[in-house]
Amino acid sequence: MAQLIVLGGAPLHGDVAISGAKNAALPILAAALLAEQPVVIDNLPDLQDITTSIELLNALGCVCQRSDSHTLRVDASTADRVIAPYELVVKMRASILVLGPLLARHGRAEVSFPGGCAIGSRPVDLHLRGLEMMGAVIEIDGGYIKAEVPGGRLCGNHILMDVVSVGATENLMMAAVLADGETVIENAAREPEIVDLANCLNAWGARVSGAGSNRLVIQGVEKLGGGRYTVMPDRIETGTFLAAALATRGCVRTTRTDPTTLEAVLIKLQEAGALVATGSDWIELDARGRDIRAVDLRTAPYPAFPTDMQSQLMAVNAAASGSAMIHETIFENRLMQAQELNRMGAKITVEGHTALVKGVAQLRGAPVRASDLRASAGLVIAALAASGETVIDRVYHIDRGYERIEEKLQGLGATIERRQGPNIEES
Ligand code: EPZ
Repeated sequence: MAQLIVLGGAPLHGDVAISGAKNAALPILAAALLAEQPVVIDNLPDLQDITTSIELLNALGCVCQRSDSHTLRVDASTADRVIAPYELVVKMRASILVLGPLLARHGRAEVSFPGGCAIGSRPVDLHLRGLEMMGAVIEIDGGYIKAEVPGGRLCGNHILMDVVSVGATENLMMAAVLADGETVIENAAREPEIVDLANCLNAWGARVSGAGSNRLVIQGVEKLGGGRYTVMPDRIETGTFLAAALATRGCVRTTRTDPTTLEAVLIKLQEAGALVATGSDWIELDARGRDIRAVDLRTAPYPAFPTDMQSQLMAVNAAASGSAMIHETIFENRLMQAQELNRMGAKITVEGHTALVKGVAQLRGAPVRASDLRASAGLVIAALAASGETVIDRVYHIDRGYERIEEKLQGLGATIERRQGPNIEES
């Protein structure tokens, strides 16, 4: 089991290039199933979840060719398989995003029912209900979602989402692209990754409007052609490196990024006491010699503060002056990193979906264990700020969402390395 060994206490400094956005790349890869001509996707992050997605596209009959670790050609013109198997879906819940494209393209699909994960039960009822409103007949059988479209083609409909859901918005948008007639999705998610998916679909011949607002309108077309598309920069990776600069009282510039996609995060980092400067594709955070204060935050759908940055700001708050309340409103179990941070000397008490963080003068290195992708990012940030050595176990969690994280941090002056630790059961 790989571990990260961090010797903390040094301010980070320098430039770091941001990779393509995992949470834009995953739906865009699923969207390739809709295209009857080959597509080329650029700026893919080199992550385990991307590799799993490519395995899934191959299992569905696509021909995938990686010209380098960030560029992929997908030819779905002869793809005719419609089963997303358990062994792939269990590795990556986002596999559910092939359901809409398969139904739109082939009129049937069998996708292993995605289970929950560490952060919550992660239901998919909104995905299934929306597809049924477009004419799909869906049953759960043997742990699989078995769906088909009598008559072969989905029909556009007016769908009101009773919860704002990124994945359900993406699945239904992709299903609607080839449906007969117009689909309206009300109370749609507004995340930048939704906009990136819509821009990609439109580049391949779709007719999606309203992306970025809470009302999407999709005019169904007969087929999608091919084309190229470049994935947007990863706003959560960006925020993670900026939070690391803040926690270590350093000065870091993130490049190849987009400041307009994480304004709520930048506001919080400034509220904490950092100086933040931005350009068209870069963001610089300077915390050198600054008095950094713990900041209250409440996660909520975009454009509010993203749940995927909550753990990182908890780590910043843990070693800031004052106290702060963190309210996690999106997932039911996303405060797990608090106990691990307390092992490092933090003073965090959790009550339900709320954490009270009392800042301490200095965290201290300790052996800690990652529980999920973003919790592990918070542990890395705390380890970089702490005095002494921290050993972070189960770093396979972090490899799902951060490309070459130890190399990028070494480039910023961090003392961090990866090593094989004892094998303990995965979870
Ligand atoms: C996406 O997950 C992201 N994953 C998550 O990032 C992110 O935390 C989340 O959106 C919220 O921004 C990808 O894009 C691959 P949701 P998703 O559907 O789509 C409830 C990371 O770390 N819900 O917006 O699964 C759900 O329980 C990952 O990169 C239903 O009730 O999230 C939750 O409370 C973690 N029924 C809320 O909606 C449904 O059918 C928001 O979930 C679907 C969701």
